Amino acid sequence: MGAAMSEPILVMNKVGKAYSAAVPILRDVSFSQAPGEFVAVVGPSGCGKTTMLRCIAALMQPDQGEVLHLGQQFGDPPPWLSIVFQDYNRSLFPWLSVRQNVGFGLRKIDRRERDERVEQALSAVNLTHAADLYPWQLSGGMQQRCALARSIVVRPQLLLLDEPFASVDAQTRIDLQDMVMDICKKMSLSTLLVTHDIDEAVFMADKVVVLSTRPAQVVEQIEIDLPHPRDQLTTKESPEFLRLRHRVYTLVRHQAQKSAAAHTEREDQ
Ligand SMILES: Nc1ncnc2c1ncn2[C@@H]1O[C@H](COP(=O)(O)OP(=O)(O)OP(=O)(O)O)[C@@H](O)[C@H]1O
Ligand SMILES: [Mg+2]
Repeated sequence: MGAAMSEPILVMNKVGKAYSAAVPILRDVSFSQAPGEFVAVVGPSGCGKTTMLRCIAALMQPDQGEVLHLGQQFGDPPPWLSIVFQDYNRSLFPWLSVRQNVGFGLRKIDRRERDERVEQALSAVNLTHAADLYPWQLSGGMQQRCALARSIVVRPQLLLLDEPFASVDAQTRIDLQDMVMDICKKMSLSTLLVTHDIDEAVFMADKVVVLSTRPAQVVEQIEIDLPHPRDQLTTKESPEFLRLRHRVYTLVRHQAQKSAAAHTEREDQ
């Protein structure tokens, strides 16, 4: 595979991070991502997934180890990296229309090209009809599509998605999964998705990275070789999907049980 042989878009090399010395959050987190690869990261609630994304985006520097983008370290968030945050309510600018929100990252680009790219991004997320509305006039799913359009319009080399579908209803979530997978494949984006949802991780990703309880470590990396295009019904009914889902589910449940046991132990003390 060509992609596997070229330089990884992202290398996490024994990354460690703590907010205070007493509570390590990440410990020796190591994995890599090839260009064009879709990686999903799953792990127990509070294990450090968002912290890991902050380190990847250079919003924070790790205490140990290194984060390399195409072989380089960055002190500030590189301009070719986009994030869709867990809490989209707070990520859109309420005083800007959908079109202005989407074009925000292209302010320095020639007007004609900017308009063209914004319209393309709006169309990719089916928001053309809502371009002149403001975030508070949109449903949750539409707000998240707006955040997604804003993140892909800059044609990122790496797209980071932190639980992007966490606060929408089940049907909207499924529609958004299909939409994101479709966009990522069409644009050959390298995407890193953090999610609690094991079905979602296996359905969307080329590789699933399972994290342990805090301090987070990589428990296992599982290649997802399900063929594309993937379909919500036929892919999810295939024996291969069920086998992979079973594997990831078992690993995550094991971590959750360890986490519950640790809590009980603390409460008993
Ligand atoms: N800025 C901060 N200062 C101090 N502690 C923090 C900070 N941000 C997060 N933490 C703590 O670090 C731990 C990991 O948080 P983080 O948000 O990375 O986990 P997560 O896996 O993304 O959680 P969730 O599944 O709820 O999204 C938590 O115990 C949290 O309280
Ligand atoms: Mg989080």
